[in-house]
Amino acid sequence: MLKMEVKAYYDFVLPLVREAGQVETKDEIYDEVTEYDRKIENILIRRIKEKWPHHNFIGEEESHMNGIGELTRNPTWIIDPIDGTSNFVRNMRDTCISVGLVIDKEQIMGIVFNPFNDELYTAVKGQGAFLNGLRIHVNQEKDIKKSIFNYELSLARNPKYYELYMYRLKHLIQIINGFRSLGSAVLGLCYVAVGRLDAYQCDGLYPWDAAAGVLIVREAGGYVCDTRGGEFDLMDPNFLATSTKELSDQFMEIERKADEERLNDLENKKPFKP
Ligand code: IPD
Ligand code: CA
Ligand code: CA
Repeated sequence: MLKMEVKAYYDFVLPLVREAGQVETKDEIYDEVTEYDRKIENILIRRIKEKWPHHNFIGEEESHMNGIGELTRNPTWIIDPIDGTSNFVRNMRDTCISVGLVIDKEQIMGIVFNPFNDELYTAVKGQGAFLNGLRIHVNQEKDIKKSIFNYELSLARNPKYYELYMYRLKHLIQIINGFRSLGSAVLGLCYVAVGRLDAYQCDGLYPWDAAAGVLIVREAGGYVCDTRGGEFDLMDPNFLATSTKELSDQFMEIERKADEERLNDLENKKPFKP
């Protein structure tokens, strides 16, 4: 029964996401970006609501006005109309629409569409992950020294996160093989799923940055944990997504050491030294 329901949701929403990706943009999009956000979110929310009026929604734009709603057991669509906004406004192509579906507080479906290169990532729980209809898998990297790691650093400008990020970066950068900071949390997760990245980390995000992408990584065989050491929490997301559990353990061990050093320095009133 649930399988049939999920298939109906998937069949209805997939073309909507593609349609939302066709919203026309002008050359000078910087000032209009929230207008595009609203247009896209509106297409998705309005049309899904018409079809299933009892469903819940957690959308980025809507949440700015009304706050993030509670996650109930009801089917809940979690939507980021544009992820990678800073790329979008500069005409860099790592940007996407992200739609996740959570039922009974479980991540059930993820659809991510990048209209600029026509890449459509999809996953339904228990049925694998796909890029443009072809099954995708994480790569099998188990060695941190060979890994290409994306650490999303933009949040470090927030004084609350600055030292956390800097201590971790200082330790990790000396060990990993290559470093990226892509500017789209959702696509970063998809790139782990498809094996372009070995590890992707972002701290201090929102549910719409994680609802679709985390499921896509897991369905592609990848591993996701919370960077504070516990289970990944969709409603308070901090995540490290890796191709393998072995890789995750190596990252977390180094980050624990970095956190320890930070706390010691804080206690001894020592400022951060690169
Ligand atoms: C942002 C991107 C970025 C991440 C930010 C997010 P937006 O989402 O995912 O990679 O570092 O924290 O807010 O604003 O482009 O939807
Ligand atoms: Ca957004
Ligand atoms: Ca986002």
